[in-house]
Amino acid sequence: MKKTIRDYDLDNKTVLIRCDFNVPMKDGIITDNNRIVSSLETIQYAIDHNAKVVLMSHLGRVKTEEDKKTKTLKPVAEELANLLNMPIKFVNTPHGKILETSIKEMNPGEVLLMENTRFEDVDGKYESKNNEQLGAYWASLGDIYINDAFGTSHRAHASNVGIASHLPSGVGFLIEKELNVMGKTLENPEHPFVVILGGAKVSDKIGVIENLVKKADTILLGGGIANTFLKAQGYELGKSLVDNESLDFCLKMLKEHPDKIILPVDVVSAKEMSDTVPVKKSGLDEIEADDIVLDLGNKTIELYETYLSDSATIVWNGTVGMSELNSFCHGTKALCDIISKAVATTIIGGGDTAGAVIGLGYREKMSHISTGGGASLELLEGKVLPGIDIINDK
Ligand code: 3PG
Repeated sequence: MKKTIRDYDLDNKTVLIRCDFNVPMKDGIITDNNRIVSSLETIQYAIDHNAKVVLMSHLGRVKTEEDKKTKTLKPVAEELANLLNMPIKFVNTPHGKILETSIKEMNPGEVLLMENTRFEDVDGKYESKNNEQLGAYWASLGDIYINDAFGTSHRAHASNVGIASHLPSGVGFLIEKELNVMGKTLENPEHPFVVILGGAKVSDKIGVIENLVKKADTILLGGGIANTFLKAQGYELGKSLVDNESLDFCLKMLKEHPDKIILPVDVVSAKEMSDTVPVKKSGLDEIEADDIVLDLGNKTIELYETYLSDSATIVWNGTVGMSELNSFCHGTKALCDIISKAVATTIIGGGDTAGAVIGLGYREKMSHISTGGGASLELLEGKVLPGIDIINDK
């Protein structure tokens, strides 16, 4: 068991909290504040316990001086000030005298956000390569380190593994919840345990399939992953997204787990990936050479419902169609609806799936929507996450 923020006396201490404020932005405007909202509980706890709260995060990838203009965390500071309803001091550098003095001058209960940790990547990738001196430098700015950046915990960077090697450390409430719900469910799922796997490429999810096929009772497939399994079975997939390099892997899985891996029985396709072209609903044998399969068909949804409505645990990673287009979001929406009514622990494994489920209005209807993209995939693969592993044990 990892130590948590509750295990420390924060009174009058400078507490460094690593958040994942890597939020989508368009022209400097935050388009989805889910990750910021999910961080508030830990930040508020530290404020209420009289800590001097120093927040850190990365935003995007920063390779050049030019990148710094669009990858500033200033809009996040403004959003935090709104959400917490208090002033947030933003320091426009993650390094140097101004930052050090600003932290020294803080009073208990105040909050400071330093600039994007990946600004330290421009001349040598110091943050992303976990430069020893950078981790030690950041650690020198605080008394206690709290990691609440679940979405970044699959990375071993200076702002997580680096700092935690030098300070007493714990996890925040966001990571605690991810581990308690997703981590524990994966360790010991209640059965029937049904997994929905979608998304583009089988090769991105080989580790997930290999790990979950051992634990789940049923794996329902959608998206490019289902296309690839169908092609491996010999179906014509036309111009659909197919991961040809993974066909052998798919055949092996189907041979070893014929009753566990369930494939679509019908599809929705079109001649172009667009909302303005006619849509064709067909059986698998009617897919033509110029068709692009873009969603699950109704019979498949009915079939998948028989497994889902009976399950005790559902884990879903990857949308089952091109859900960003209205004509092809029916499968993803129908599954959201079925899952929201199931008497089961329902876990949405982050990334695009989380975005789609929230966008379609099902945020409150799921037991847990992970804030991690790559991090939740690695948890589903059964991997150790270095940003959490490094945190002090109880
Ligand atoms: C994410 O969005 O998955 C995390 O913030 C990690 O970002 P990264 O892939 O740029 O390391």
